[in-house]
This record gives sequence, C-alpha cells and structure tokens, in this order.
Amino acid sequence: MSSMIKVAVVGCGDRACVYAKEGVFNLKRMQVVAAVDPDPVKRKQMHEIYGVPKEMCFETIDGLLAKGKIADCIINGTMDQMHLETSVPFLKQGYDMLLEKPLVNNEKDLYALMAVAEENGCKLMTCHVLRYAPFYKKVKELILNGDIGEVVNIQTSERVGAAHSSMSYLRGKWKSEKECGSSLLLAKCCHDIDLICWLNNSTRPTEVVSYGGRNYFIPEKAPKGAGTKCLVDCPKEVREKCVYDVQSMYLDNCVLPWYPWQCTGKHYEDVTMEEKIESLKTYNPHGSCVYKAGGDIVDHQNVMMKFADGSTATHNVTLGVMAPGRSIWIVGTKGEIEGNIESGVLELKKYDKATSLHTVEKFTFHDTAGETGGHFGGDRGIVEDFCNIMDGKQPSISCTAIQDSIVGHVLTFKADESLKENKPVTF
Ligand SMILES: NC(=O)c1ccc[n+]([C@@H]2O[C@H](COP(=O)([O-])OP(=O)(O)OC[C@H]3O[C@@H](n4cnc5c(N)ncnc54)[C@H](O)[C@@H]3O)[C@@H](O)[C@H]2O)c1
Repeated sequence: MSSMIKVAVVGCGDRACVYAKEGVFNLKRMQVVAAVDPDPVKRKQMHEIYGVPKEMCFETIDGLLAKGKIADCIINGTMDQMHLETSVPFLKQGYDMLLEKPLVNNEKDLYALMAVAEENGCKLMTCHVLRYAPFYKKVKELILNGDIGEVVNIQTSERVGAAHSSMSYLRGKWKSEKECGSSLLLAKCCHDIDLICWLNNSTRPTEVVSYGGRNYFIPEKAPKGAGTKCLVDCPKEVREKCVYDVQSMYLDNCVLPWYPWQCTGKHYEDVTMEEKIESLKTYNPHGSCVYKAGGDIVDHQNVMMKFADGSTATHNVTLGVMAPGRSIWIVGTKGEIEGNIESGVLELKKYDKATSLHTVEKFTFHDTAGETGGHFGGDRGIVEDFCNIMDGKQPSISCTAIQDSIVGHVLTFKADESLKENKPVTF
C-alpha cells in the first residue's frame, strides 16, 4: 500500500487531531474517512477540517463498526479508561491501530489487548512519542553504536512546571486516578519508564521499588486564609502571592489552552473572556483552589528499577516546579550520556587518555519549541513510522509496537503497586 492511508479517528479530541493533522496535512499520507465522537462539536470539526462526510461521522463506535472494515487503520485518541472498550471491537474487525498511551491501566487488560491484536493479525502501536524525538533517538543510536559500552545505570527525571501541573494533574482531567483510571506515573511517566526499558532493552527489568506521596497539594498546605475558588472566595492579598491564582495562570496566560476550556463545550479559541471567567466562578474544575481541588494522585514519586544484567535505573517525577524539565543521565562502562530535552543539548562523555580526564561531544537539537511537530518532533515521527509500517516498510528503531511497549507499562503498574503496598515488587 503506498497510496493514501485511509484512517478512521475514534475519539476526536486534542491528541487524535494532532496525529491526524500530521498524517493528513504535514506528511500528506493519510486521509480521514470516518470519525467517532459523542461530542457534536468534534464531529463538526472532523467534517470541516478533514472533509469527513457527515454520514461517516458517528456518535458511537457502534455506528462505525456496523459499516464493517472501511479504512486501513484507526487512530484511537479516547481518554485513558476507554482504550480497551474502544479498541477491541475494531481489532476484531482487523483494523491496525495507533492507540494513545497508556494502552490500558492494568496488566490483565494489557495482555488481553495484545492477544486480540495478535489473534487478528493487527499492527498495534502506542503513542510513546518521545522515542521518536530526535533527542532520544540519538541516545538510542549512541547506545546501539556501543559508544558508552554496557549500560550500568540510567537516571531520568521529570519536573512538571506549575501551570502544566495545574492544567493536567492538579485541577485537570488526570487529577484523580479514581475518575480517569491512571496514576500520575501512568499518565505522565509511562513515557519515561518506557524510555528506560527501550534504551536498556538488551536486558529486562526484574524488580522495582517506589516511594512518593501527596504531600504538598493538600488543603493543609493552602496559603493561610485561602478560599475554595480563586475568583469567588479567595482574598485578593492571598491570590496576589499565590502561584496558582487563575488570573495569571489561566486568564492572563494559558500555556495549555486546550485543557481548561474544554468543559465549556466550545473550541478553546471560541471561548470569550466573559465565558472563561464565568466558568471559573462556577462549574469549571480549574476554578478551584489548587490545594482543595479534590485530586487523589501523588504529587511526587521516585522509582528504582533493577534489571536482569545487574544494571539499575531511577526515575523521579515532581509536580508544581518552577523550572520544568525532562533530563537523562546514562552511565555506561565506556562513557556517559547526559542531556535535557528542553535545552536540546545532549553530551557524550568519554575517557580521554591524553589528559586522564574526559572528552565531551555535544549534539544540539534545535527544535525545542516543536516546529517539527509536538513533543520535540516526536508526534510527527510516530505518525511517519506508523505510515511506513502501514505501507509495509521496515519499522524504525523507535517502533512502539505493543509487543515492545508492554514492558514499560508492566513496570509502571508494578512501580505503583510497590508505592501503594510499600514493598519492592519482582517480575
Ligand atoms: N502521547 C502523549 O504524550 C499524550 C499527551 C496527552 C494525552 N495523551 C493521552 O491521549 C488520550 C486522549 O487525551 P486528549 O487530551 O486528547 O483527550 P480529549 O478529551 O481531548 O479527547 C478524547 C475524545 O474522546 C471523545 N470520546 C468520549 N467518549 C468516547 C467514545 N465512547 N467513543 C469515541 N470517542 C469518545 C471525547 O468526546 C473527546 O473528544 C488520553 O489517553 C491521554 O492520556 C497522550
């Protein structure tokens, strides 16, 4: 197949449209022929932006399933807890699929999903987009090349900025594991745990231990005198000193505008300032005091992992930091790799016989703002690889086929089990 790849989009929200946009408009290799979304605004957008015929825009998956297999593949961008129920019926019809991460939220469903894909001969890839960012691809190439010898230890860390934390994990739709089905580690760091497993995939994880908790974004830590909603009952003098005051974070600035105004039922660009303010005063969960917003996920977590060959790894995630960043440091027997994806600089350090110190080779990645696609080029990279695989070409070294991506997911589930049960968990 090297003609246009026919795609049906299921769950036409933010993420699915990122992939559809890459495939249709940037790579020009996909055509969206059908769409499913219960939200009429999203269905209208699929018709207007992607030219999906109105009669091929369905309110439920049953409408599309009833048509039989009318496309080559599915892009599934539904929310976390819907992935299994919205994927299995399409896999049974033989659709290949690009499914958002996390694939599912527990081990049993993960194996069930993989079994259905394999029984029906379907290619199923998950959106671990960071594997495709040129920054991480370079890390993988250096390891495969033998530049640092054997991997001894990997340290990764993710410091989630205050505004991002608020919009996604403290006031946003991933704030509660009970409601959305994902822990912080699964929603945010299944990327990082996947990167560790992928970069160190000449071996396999054998044991994990994790510590963390919700210690900072709790009512007891709210500023003295704080109300329950910024714009309703929080005194001016408290708001002026609070980082999370909605005036600055949501009204004057808004780093992830597609999240907080979703509940208005309008596309975020169409929401007026009056509507934003009214929503924050009333029904919008982002209007709540960040310390009293009712979330149940941890606000910081550390994970320590042991691998069969004796190598080890750690990952740390912290919400609500002032200077965000995702960094990596890998120690090998013959060298080290160190970098921070936001700065776009990766360093390869090796022993220098001439000085008995070390040399530094620098690699610079200029797309720190996502000009080549979001996630530092990862969003476009994954769609391109998926298109290549659909066209029968060789997958890239980043390929996130479910058979390879389950390791990171299982490790994430086991890390959360360790955190909750306060004990190491073995594989
Ligand atoms: N790869 C990444 O880095 C990354 C980043 C952010 C989010 N995500 C993941 O992407 C997924 C989607 O997140 P989002 O922010 O795009 O969500 P979203 O809310 O913008 O989109 C979900 C869409 O699914 C629709 N929907 C609800 N029920 C449905 C059903 N029964 N059938 C079909 N559609 C239905 C909703 O109306 C909505 O339009 C989540 O699993 C999330 O965790 C991944």
